[in-house]
Amino acid sequence: MNLIDGKATAAHILENLMTEITQLSHRPGLSVILIGNNPASQAYVNAKIKACNKIGIYSELITLPETVSEDYLLEKIESLNQDKNIHGILVQLPLPRHISTNKVIEAISYQKDVDGFHPINMGRLAKGLPALIPCTPKGIQELLKFYNIETEGKHCVIVGRSNIVGMPMSVMMMQNMPFANATVTVCHSKTKNIEQYTRQADILIAAVGSPKKITGDMVKEGCVVIDVGINRVQNGEKYQLVGDVDFESVAPKTTYITPVPGGVGPMTIAMLMKNTVEAAKMINNLL
Ligand code: GUN
Repeated sequence: MNLIDGKATAAHILENLMTEITQLSHRPGLSVILIGNNPASQAYVNAKIKACNKIGIYSELITLPETVSEDYLLEKIESLNQDKNIHGILVQLPLPRHISTNKVIEAISYQKDVDGFHPINMGRLAKGLPALIPCTPKGIQELLKFYNIETEGKHCVIVGRSNIVGMPMSVMMMQNMPFANATVTVCHSKTKNIEQYTRQADILIAAVGSPKKITGDMVKEGCVVIDVGINRVQNGEKYQLVGDVDFESVAPKTTYITPVPGGVGPMTIAMLMKNTVEAAKMINNLL
């Protein structure tokens, strides 16, 4: 079993980005919008701003109350679309129920859509055209690349079909390109006998948001396991971060596995930084 060190890989990527940023004529800028006071969202957003500060991306955090109107948010996004100092706009999800996530995503200029959630970027991704690509799937593919894990012709089983991870990941893994070219199966909450699929996986990507859902008896000897889950579970007085994979029983059967924390999480942030630099270069006609 080899541990995939996402923290070290992300640090390496961030260092390269930092050098690249010093050589750009325009400083890339990211605006992050956080609505309400969900503690997990607050933690993610803080980590994103911290990464910007570390590598020289200009950043601004816009915090809005849970009760903010959809119209106000859409106006705010429109002013950021016009802002010359801002190249990336990220609205942290989930949003309060009275706000349409789809409307918000579509209001963001696709050129500043560093999450890669806009239908134009999703469509371009599906067609294999240059696009801003969702950060978590992009980070997972970077890890496969960094550890030179062969994926061509392999069976990649993805558990979870979210718009943020499972769906775009499945699209990426089936493309005719390096570190993809896999045969892809997507399992979700309505899949019957999930273990019948996970046991066939050469590469298993777990993105369900359910603590320790994947257990040792559900995976095949020699597989590669990527754990996207970040579940906060209470352990006595303290909160603990637990993945979607039961590491203890799964790890001994794998050739490679990502830990939680320190696996996929840091890569998501590194890819957000990369997308922001890409967006800045694109907007300034450097790509
Ligand atoms: N909520 C959970 N993950 C993400 C993400 O990657 N981007 C945004 N905007 N919100 C999220």
